[in-house]
Amino acid sequence: KIAVLAYSGGLDTSCCLKLLEDKYDYSVVSVAVDVGQPAEDLIEPEEKAKKFGVLEHHTIDAKEEFAKDYIFRAIKANALYEGYPLSTALARPLIAVKIAELAESLNASAISHGCTGKGNDQFRFESIMRAKTPSIEIVAPIRDLNLTRTEEIEYAREKGIPVPVDLEKPFSIDENLWGRSIEGGVLEDPMYETPEECFAWTTTPKLAKDEEELVKIEFKEGVPVKINDEEMEPVELIRKANEIAGRNAVGRVDIIEDRILGLKSRENYECPGAFLLINAHKALEQIVLTREEIKFKETVDFMYADLIYRGLWHEPLKQDLDAFIDKTQERMNGVVKVKLYKGSLRIVGRNSSDALYNEEMVSFENKEMDQNEIVGMVKFHGLQAAIYEGLKK
Ligand code: ARG
Ligand code: SIN
Repeated sequence: KIAVLAYSGGLDTSCCLKLLEDKYDYSVVSVAVDVGQPAEDLIEPEEKAKKFGVLEHHTIDAKEEFAKDYIFRAIKANALYEGYPLSTALARPLIAVKIAELAESLNASAISHGCTGKGNDQFRFESIMRAKTPSIEIVAPIRDLNLTRTEEIEYAREKGIPVPVDLEKPFSIDENLWGRSIEGGVLEDPMYETPEECFAWTTTPKLAKDEEELVKIEFKEGVPVKINDEEMEPVELIRKANEIAGRNAVGRVDIIEDRILGLKSRENYECPGAFLLINAHKALEQIVLTREEIKFKETVDFMYADLIYRGLWHEPLKQDLDAFIDKTQERMNGVVKVKLYKGSLRIVGRNSSDALYNEEMVSFENKEMDQNEIVGMVKFHGLQAAIYEGLKK
């Protein structure tokens, strides 16, 4: 009986590994999906998995796919949920697909993950896994056995699983190309200011350089293709965006977020590249799309982000929205100039061959568009409100 375990090498999933063998009687195949987390986060699970004697350990490289098919879609949709660029949420469906495919190819009896019963990731993993491999059972030991952190630590000590030395700071951190999510531990008190040590990709405004940095981002059909005139592959471009915004202290958010379950939770994110690229993308939409498109797209973008957050990447509506978004993005070609300075981000220029912006027409110096012709239009503007006011007299 084989269980395929999504394995990060951390405390939760290491406990899962041992529990699957001890309590569930499975042989474990562990897998880590590479969605752009740091190299050591892929080496560590491999080393630990070997030490714990799993049947096999797999590392699946999904970076390119994550960048092209997930992150770039999120950029086109300006995807934010309550101010969160969805870094963790966006990677989950891809990880789930990869694990389901592996489980199927190994003829496994179960798929296992280390999620708790309080968070979002269980929904995101399982909705996709159930859709892809309905006959494979899903086992979530931490949730199913209702384990607390303290009980896990006890179990880990018993089983020789290394427990992080710093138990006062047991932050739960999830990291991929699109950002870092930091939660738990002392951060559960929303009055407690997030300590600097939580952050790895961004500096604080105080320590950022005392000089504005200008960045030029070029888009083609709604996705970024160049930074500062240099053409880059998606993964490289996203990394570059993270680096530039991060060193200027752009990209941190500290929010109270409404989880799928309804629990409010305090979440910290650092997503420098996401903020830079989404803001630049929106700025370009302002000169390219019509007023009607922008208004309607705001609703679409909102729905899109909500679906991603709730782990419904495979919902047909998501594909319907993609069709609309892709159509609007066909004209989204151009360049945006952004200035970054000590945590602030300002759009300072934009240009597009597909712009509806018409400098000549809008200029106060131009006589071509006869102002007299507008008189009639202005006269009847707000007609219903005027009639309503009249009724009150
Ligand atoms: N609350 C965030 C989300 O729902 C982050 C979850 C982070 N996951 C983790 N295992 N630390 O996307
Ligand atoms: C967890 O609760 O397992 C991680 C966080 C989340 O899913 O939101």
